[in-house]
Amino acid sequence: MSKRIALVTGGTGGLGAAICRSLVDKGFTVVAGYNSGGNHEKAKAWQEAQRADGYDILVAYGDVTDDKSCQSCIQSVEEMTGGNIDVLINNAGITRDGQFKKMTWEQWDEVLSANLDSMFHMTRLVINPMIEKGFGRIINISSVNAQKGQFGQCNYSAAKAGIHGFTKALAQEVAAKGVTVNTVSPGYIMTPMVAQIAEEIQDKICSTIPVKRFGTPEEIGRIVTFLAEDESGYITGADMSINGGLHMH
Ligand code: CAA
Repeated sequence: MSKRIALVTGGTGGLGAAICRSLVDKGFTVVAGYNSGGNHEKAKAWQEAQRADGYDILVAYGDVTDDKSCQSCIQSVEEMTGGNIDVLINNAGITRDGQFKKMTWEQWDEVLSANLDSMFHMTRLVINPMIEKGFGRIINISSVNAQKGQFGQCNYSAAKAGIHGFTKALAQEVAAKGVTVNTVSPGYIMTPMVAQIAEEIQDKICSTIPVKRFGTPEEIGRIVTFLAEDESGYITGADMSINGGLHMH
């Protein structure tokens, strides 16, 4: 069982919660980063619900688009856990779907800030302590739509594709220091993000997935945890695609 400290950004969301729970199952001390529009009560209620299910997960507020807010998030993780972060899971993300011909700058900017700039803010704050310690795991959640593109997601596909470049470049810089950097690329996983797609579009997408169903958050949680473990030190700069065969490459 691991005694490592893990921070999952967007930890109280659909994928994030399953990632947190999977890490707890393997003994990690887990902190769920949340934004929730600053709704601290909602995060506390989420924490209580996890506790009622037998999952002890700490929570820390942080807006991943804002450098100062990320700094105070990391500081509160260190205060709560008494250590520094061994495993960072950059999972927070949003969609603002729409055809490019109608897309506004705000739709572009919000998605790029939350899904890509967030990598810069959060990772920069943990990377030096990881290098000094000679151990670290950075796991970036990308998407099948980075690899294949998606009608209505020029902003999201661009941001998620950027994550792959970031991952492979950073992986090379820190490989010799015991720090691994990888991406996990989920396909369509049944979370609130997918549930908000119009039902007829969901059905159309589902029919194109060779496995003929959407994935479950737990199926993502277990691969993230696998990458987080000490034993996975020879996997770096890699992408784990979990998409039911929607895109094979
Ligand atoms: N390919 C080609 N044409 C398409 C298309 C597609 N995939 N989807 C729609 N169209 C066409 C329609 O047939 C329609 O054509 P006509 O005008 O000739 O009838 C035209 O595009 C307009 O379609 P809509 O009426 O649907 O346009 P809209 O602007 O109202 O909606 C949209 C656009 C919001 C992007 C909608 O198509 C949609 O929700 N698509 C799904 C986007 C998606 O998959 N998002 C993933 C979210 S989950 C996620 O991101 C997690 C992850 O990592 C996987």
